[in-house]
Amino acid sequence: MAVVGIDLGTTNSEIAYIDEYNKPVVIPNRDGNNITPSVICFDGSSIIIGEEAKELQALGTYDIAAFFKRQMGDETFTFYANGVDYTATELSAMILKKLKDDAEFFLGKKISDAVITVPAYFKEKERQSTIDAGKKAGLNVLQVINEPTAAAVAYGLKNSSNQTILVYDLGGGTFDVTIMKIEKNVIKILNSTGDHHLGGKDWDDKIISYLAQQFEEEFGVDPLQDSESVADLLIRAEEAKKQLTKRMSTNISISYDGMKGRYTLDRDIFNDITADLMERTISLTQQALDDIKLKSSDIDNILLVGGSTRMPMVHNFIEERFSKKPLIGVNVDEAVALGATIVAYDSTKPKFSLGGKKIKDVTNHSLGMIAITKDNSKYVNSFILPKNQEVPCIEEKSFSHRVSKKTPNKLEIFLTQGEDRVPDGVDYLGMYVVDNIPYKKGGLVNVLIKYEYDISGVVNVNAYVDSKKMPITKHSLPDDVPSKFMKTPEIEVVEVVPEFTTVYLAFDISGSMSGTPLLEAKKAAKGFVDGMNLNHSAVGLIVFSDRVKTVLNASQKEKKIYEAIDKIIVGETGCCNDTDPFNKIYELLKNEDDRKFALVLADGMWSYQNRAITGAKKCHSVDIDIVAIGFGGADESFLREIASSKKGSIFTTEEGLVETFSTIAQEISSK
Ligand SMILES: Nc1ncnc2c1ncn2[C@@H]1O[C@H](COP(=O)(O)OP(=O)(O)OP(=O)(O)O)[C@@H](O)[C@H]1O
Ligand SMILES: [Mg+2]
Repeated sequence: MAVVGIDLGTTNSEIAYIDEYNKPVVIPNRDGNNITPSVICFDGSSIIIGEEAKELQALGTYDIAAFFKRQMGDETFTFYANGVDYTATELSAMILKKLKDDAEFFLGKKISDAVITVPAYFKEKERQSTIDAGKKAGLNVLQVINEPTAAAVAYGLKNSSNQTILVYDLGGGTFDVTIMKIEKNVIKILNSTGDHHLGGKDWDDKIISYLAQQFEEEFGVDPLQDSESVADLLIRAEEAKKQLTKRMSTNISISYDGMKGRYTLDRDIFNDITADLMERTISLTQQALDDIKLKSSDIDNILLVGGSTRMPMVHNFIEERFSKKPLIGVNVDEAVALGATIVAYDSTKPKFSLGGKKIKDVTNHSLGMIAITKDNSKYVNSFILPKNQEVPCIEEKSFSHRVSKKTPNKLEIFLTQGEDRVPDGVDYLGMYVVDNIPYKKGGLVNVLIKYEYDISGVVNVNAYVDSKKMPITKHSLPDDVPSKFMKTPEIEVVEVVPEFTTVYLAFDISGSMSGTPLLEAKKAAKGFVDGMNLNHSAVGLIVFSDRVKTVLNASQKEKKIYEAIDKIIVGETGCCNDTDPFNKIYELLKNEDDRKFALVLADGMWSYQNRAITGAKKCHSVDIDIVAIGFGGADESFLREIASSKKGSIFTTEEGLVETFSTIAQEISSK
């Protein structure tokens, strides 16, 4: 079984493997070529793919599918041939199948796993369609990976650290410019932009128009009137363009309707007639830099990818703008496939080629969902996983969902991709429905939804009620989306954007706490931290006995909180109970806007209870929720006085501390 990397290109595709010398190499197709045109010719009932299809395309008489990568994920697109409507996914699957079959023929063994590349700008639907196409072609798709990332891997950049790279990818149909930072073990995309209708083909078209104009001036007829002659010109124009990469000038002859013209095209004319196209790539490159406020001089290296970067005008631009030559050493047609192969091989044979380093990409689009603003006045796109996070990444949200006893209860979530807050400015991934939510007393159920970007940048969603996984199904989008989200909300499901919660644990560390009581209290404190969602809350630590000490200002870092808990020692603030923590709690929390709690743990009688009660009341007055937990020699009626509510005064035992604290964490988190 072989593992491969595949560059599924708009105009050309490549497949590569790791050879017996542990080198990534492109596998030739059955025609002996490394490049297989992404072209499909439908000739009656037979389907011809690749080189021959491209040759037949030149005749202009067949049903030819080409450039369908641009339609990946577009549910409205189909290509009709042989009485069948083909989706872009199905057409791509045919290309992949052809690559796979030819490669199996060459290698003499079956191909199992593959990494397929996609443009960095591809969103959920395009990525998912690429994976689906791979599956349809009989491949086990290990992951999809961004083309510029794959190129960077092929150039060996994984070995170098801390540099900023610009990948200029001009293929046959698309132009992408990506700026990335290579750090010790992460390849981080800083910005990616491009024009997906700008590629080598547009340069060919310029040559065609130029030639047609020359011909018309000479003979008074336009050779572009006729589709066969256009198809023929397409081939000649591309040929001429390639010639001009090597030479300063080339000759092209055109025969049409019995007339024959012969024209010379030199590099200056070529540069002239395509100047606007080149200018477009230049301004997009500039925009990519400007967007993230970088200057040309901030770029350490430039990588050229795509067949069209062979054109001398591209090299001239790069050298002028960046005052350096692009990196060399990898074939521009092959870099993407080779990089994908290295990643594929590495994931099945760890530590092979990447030396144990992880290639981590980042998400290029924020994941969001439609939510209602707190005042119920409008719908907004609320971000769940912001862009530029390393993949895989995960986030969870809690929904307070109204349920009834009778009807089946379901929760609908509309997932989005994009950077706009306004619901009609983003893409919709679909409607995710959690069915059969059980009824709960009081009519409100908390549904926890976990959202994940997997390694391919593909979204997975899971739902839980009371830690139990619930079935969730993806439905296609209702017709009134997004328009209904531009009106005033009427639905009942409201995302609870969890209010931020700050909690201080205030521990009595007088002499009586030494030994097991403190150990249990520490365990309980850690359990409490585990039970809090630190994405939406912070925990701090105060200790007191004769004096008060803030061990940790409220933090969202679990490690820091744990360390602070570990550090507590009995006696560090004296060994009696001459003071209370309430003034400190008041100072630390009074200016917090969101929810604020203090969990006060007491194990004995405090010397100045009245003063403590006054301090506690002052805290209540600014909405600090005091939970008083007592054990050992604590005074129950005193606890009731300092707690904000009756429920907030808890008397337990040393052994009961862990459970008490984790129950409190649960209660706080679920509110
Ligand atoms: N020597 C050359 N000089 C100029 N252009 C060339 C040369 N060789 C190839 N090209 C052009 O490169 C283009 C194909 O590039 P490539 O194979 O990288 O595209 P692709 O990967 O299919 O497209 P995309 O990356 O847009 O999906 C064609 O337009 C081809 O004419
Ligand atoms: Mg390409």
